[in-house]
Amino acid sequence: MNGSSNKAARLALQKHSEEFRRKEFRLSELFGFEKNRFQEYSLSHEGLLLDYSKNFIKSETVSLLLDLAQQSQLPSAIDAMFRGEGINTTEQRAAMHVALRAPRERTKTPEVNASLERMESLVAELHGGKWTGYSGRVITDIVHLGIGGSDLGPAMVCDALRHLATRKLSVHFVSNIDPSHLQNTLKDLQAETTLFVIASKSFSTLETLKNAEAARDWLLEQTDATATAKHFVAITTNLSAATEFGIEEQNLYPLWDWVGGRFSLWSAIGLPIALALGMDGFRQLLAGAHSMDEHFRTAPLDKNLPVILALLNFWYREYFDAHSTAVVPYSQRLNLLPSFLQQLCMESLGKSVDKQGAPIEHNTGDIIWGTAGTNGQHSYFQLLHQGTEFVPVDFIAAANSDVQGSAEAHQHLLASCFSQSLALMEGKLDADSIHKVVAGNKPSNTLLLEELNPYNLGMLLALFEHKVYALSVLWNINAFDQWGVELGKKLSTKVFAAMSADTNQELLDESTQGLIQKAQHWRKD
Ligand code: F6P
Repeated sequence: MNGSSNKAARLALQKHSEEFRRKEFRLSELFGFEKNRFQEYSLSHEGLLLDYSKNFIKSETVSLLLDLAQQSQLPSAIDAMFRGEGINTTEQRAAMHVALRAPRERTKTPEVNASLERMESLVAELHGGKWTGYSGRVITDIVHLGIGGSDLGPAMVCDALRHLATRKLSVHFVSNIDPSHLQNTLKDLQAETTLFVIASKSFSTLETLKNAEAARDWLLEQTDATATAKHFVAITTNLSAATEFGIEEQNLYPLWDWVGGRFSLWSAIGLPIALALGMDGFRQLLAGAHSMDEHFRTAPLDKNLPVILALLNFWYREYFDAHSTAVVPYSQRLNLLPSFLQQLCMESLGKSVDKQGAPIEHNTGDIIWGTAGTNGQHSYFQLLHQGTEFVPVDFIAAANSDVQGSAEAHQHLLASCFSQSLALMEGKLDADSIHKVVAGNKPSNTLLLEELNPYNLGMLLALFEHKVYALSVLWNINAFDQWGVELGKKLSTKVFAAMSADTNQELLDESTQGLIQKAQHWRKD
């Protein structure tokens, strides 16, 4: 597809959107015009419901958006992903994360099953207290070293499902090159009972390698270099670099170039999830994701949850100039979900050149942000209600709590979630002061899970992954590369060199030189 093939649908949507930008338009009145609006504009898949009735849409809007999906050839793009075609065109690769969660008997990638089996043995060994460190003591702590896609997914899932985690092991995550991150983590741990997992697809990411070196130094302060074999495992495509680091062959877990970093938690990168939840929990996560894969692959576009979410995001981004989407999980357990989604969405959709290399003349990915509700209500919700920014919101909640005896508190949590979407929609126009007027007319989606468990979380995450892919197809961009990140990495090497006393700083701009000089002037070590 080239960028102009959905032009007719875009023009029709542009014209249609005028109706919703009229001063008199009231979102809440749509419920009066269409009596079964919740039935009409909600979709369920197993234990997951999407209510999208509080949006600027009516039946004509949905059919125009579906025309857009057809004109963008979304159905064939979905097929292409599931067939394993080279849809990551700028890196000449497939994007086959769905193969990581295909059922064992249906897999077309036997290496995935082999990797899962090896993970299973490692989990059994560690849970069974059979893996001992250099002193013969059993491993009690896992420190996962990775960043970006090699950190955010596993860290978020482990945090979300911590209530189901084994007590046999504690799993910790270190990502930042800021030495305080590693130091804070190691200060309560003992080297002889700690196993490090180096997670790096490339095994060349500065932050992860520096943290791995510092972790190895910490270990070797207690013992000799032979201990590295007992205290480090790695997950990477770059097996030779990991071997050079000192990791034994049997402690290397493979990754493949057809798994993008931000789509990799389903691979051995998810090892900390398997270590925390056990292999059954990890397999349930995969099964939930697979169920959403099947839904995305087979459901008609108008009943397809990821497609509907993508179309709504497109609608607001293109015709209502929405600069951002707030993702607000009414679940403390999902507090890290917005950070995970930031990478998933913004690394995938932050592009300004289309797949054919032509500059894009319309909007692409928006800014994703948010934190758990109800906390957000007491900080940024004021701007959502009365500010000048137009911010569609994705609410996420679970109907049930896993905390025994907490029924009333959980009902308050849900009531807060539902009442915020109501307040955003209806506002309050009849106030006694202009300062108290809340305009309303703010759209939102609500994703309601029956409960937060590994299976449902797998479905939820796959839903967002597929939404991102569907959006990339509508915008005709490649969701699977991230060339923009490379520039910062290269410049960081150059600036680091300039900060060493004997390197000429004049190659840098005046501001950067000024910052370096002041930092060096204040430097105490
Ligand atoms: O931030 C850029 C990026 O390439 C991400 O896409 C990736 O998830 C992260 O760095 C980590 O990369 P690696 O797994 O190769 O260390």
